[in-house]
Amino acid sequence: MIFTVAIDGPAAAGKGTVGRAVATHFGFAHLDTGLLYRAVGAQVLAGADPVEAARGLTPEALAAPGLRSPEVARAASEVAVIGEVRAALLEFQRSFARREGGAVLDGRDIGTVICPEAEVKLFVTASAEARAARRLAELVAAGVETDFGAVLEDVRARDLRDSGRAEAPLRPADDAHLLDTSELDVEQAVAAAVAQVAERLGR
Ligand code: CDP
Ligand code: CDP
Repeated sequence: MIFTVAIDGPAAAGKGTVGRAVATHFGFAHLDTGLLYRAVGAQVLAGADPVEAARGLTPEALAAPGLRSPEVARAASEVAVIGEVRAALLEFQRSFARREGGAVLDGRDIGTVICPEAEVKLFVTASAEARAARRLAELVAAGVETDFGAVLEDVRARDLRDSGRAEAPLRPADDAHLLDTSELDVEQAVAAAVAQVAERLGR
């Protein structure tokens, strides 16, 4: 069975959390596409050329330490405006989306550019404050020294860059289901996403 669930939305909205849970629930594969851009961003911080880094990306690079740091997130959103970087990552994401057995991809342009034919599209969002509070909790738990103001500023700057860029800007696909998780806990957000997929699968 070929079946793609496309999940897009702004930083720290819960795309990955919802995506992983949906994949586990239905036995689908899951790809966090932000990790591709983070891996390129990390290599650029280490002095690499962004387009060469994207073209030469390896599975090992996706497991590099430190990819979740705010510095790498910023570098990721800076390399993500480069059309040739996006083009270099396109085919891998497309073939992942159409692999046998079902796939969930989360990112910014999955429902609009990578997989416009996805069977289910979700646009997961939440207020910038709710998202910054969630990301702060994750960073503090990982031992990163930061505060709410700095995280909120990072989230807003990245939202602006991701939505304002010319190539594949962040926006909901016309046929995406909106899932605002501002007032939902993880369990409720996952249940809402699972219900959308189950309905489309006719289960
Ligand atoms: O992938 P994305 O950056 O959109 O978000 P994430 O990595 O899934 O992180 C979201 C964080 O918010 C996680 O720590 C979740 O436990 C938490 N959270 C959530 O995902 N959804 C909610 N409805 C409430 C909290
Ligand atoms: O987890 P969070 O939502 O904070 O970020 P991410 O999903 O890991 O993505 C990091 C950055 O990569 C984003 O700010 C985007 O600029 C870029 N990105 C993108 O342009 N397209 C995607 N499909 C995924 C990520």
